[in-house]
Amino acid sequence: MKALILAGGKGTRLRPITYSMAKQLVPVANKPVVEYGLEALIRAGVKEIGVIVGDTADAVMAALGDGSRWGAEITYIPQPDPLGLAHAVATAKPFLGSSDFVMYLGDNLVKSSLEALIEEFQFHRPSATILLSPVKNPSQFGVAEMDGDCVRRLEEKPAEPRSNLALVGVYIFSSAIHDIIAKLQPSARGEYEITEAIQGLIDQGQVVRSHVVQDWWKDTGTVEAMLEANRLILEDLETKIEGEVDSESRIEGRVSIARGARIVKSVVRGPAIIGSDCLIENSFVGPFTAIDAGTTLRSSEIENSIVLAECHIENAHNRIESSLIGRGAVVRQSDRVPKTLSLVLGDSSQVEIP
Ligand code: TTP
Repeated sequence: MKALILAGGKGTRLRPITYSMAKQLVPVANKPVVEYGLEALIRAGVKEIGVIVGDTADAVMAALGDGSRWGAEITYIPQPDPLGLAHAVATAKPFLGSSDFVMYLGDNLVKSSLEALIEEFQFHRPSATILLSPVKNPSQFGVAEMDGDCVRRLEEKPAEPRSNLALVGVYIFSSAIHDIIAKLQPSARGEYEITEAIQGLIDQGQVVRSHVVQDWWKDTGTVEAMLEANRLILEDLETKIEGEVDSESRIEGRVSIARGARIVKSVVRGPAIIGSDCLIENSFVGPFTAIDAGTTLRSSEIENSIVLAECHIENAHNRIESSLIGRGAVVRQSDRVPKTLSLVLGDSSQVEIP
């Protein structure tokens, strides 16, 4: 069994962050999203892993390396244009050969382990097994209509869903998928759709099974979803204080403070994680906040947010909340008059002012 992690794509929904970085490298609880999927695959015993890369190839390659850090072997597969999930599979055909493979969307987080999914596939030997999860709002997802354990039909965002089972971004395919993909036409949005390829298998009379997970899963493609994924991962955080906390500071609940970080005259209320070499001074860091390495927070308050590395946040007395702050960003309140807002914002930035 091989694996294919999709870490290309456009990431338009996460702009402006994705103008300067791969969305799969945005940290959730201070760890790049894609590493959660990679580690889940490796835990399930899959060690031969292809990673589809696009415009952000260099950064993804620098982050994951050759996989030896995890005892895995990573092969990078450049996709010239992000023409869809099925196109990514076609691009990876020389790597995949005639192997069965797990396809994992690099911006997805799945809490449950992948062992049971893989075992089920190996036991029944269908042409594909898809991971499904019950959702409250199926019309916003790809939805599977089931016939026992077998999938009868897949529908993208159906107005009248025939089940509440949504497609999670993990699939297992036999090599039968390649012939179907070779005959696919682009969809109305101009992409080669994996749902159409799976439907193609079903229409040919091949068996497509499902594996339903009850645990949470998240496609981190939007800011809201990224913050929610951060909350879900931080829910399981364990306390680990390796940095310095001065006697005037208070640490409440489950908090992780990495080596070299300093907490001075501040309150950190968990679950929260603070990366190496951060300085938190005269500040409040509230629940569900992840602050990445080398960031300085002075006389400021923040909660339910993700702050990337090397940011400077000063005198932000209006508590920052539900925010995703990109690498090296500066947020500060100044005392100068007139009391105007002074903004230097990248394309597609969003600022909400009280
Ligand atoms: P999507 O989130 O569906 O697509 P996208 O990355 O283009 O994002 P947006 O809709 O915001 O523009 O992709 C799911 C995953 O698959 C994600 O990790 C990117 C990856 N991907 C590829 O590697 N190649 C592709 O051709 C596409 C469409 C996505």
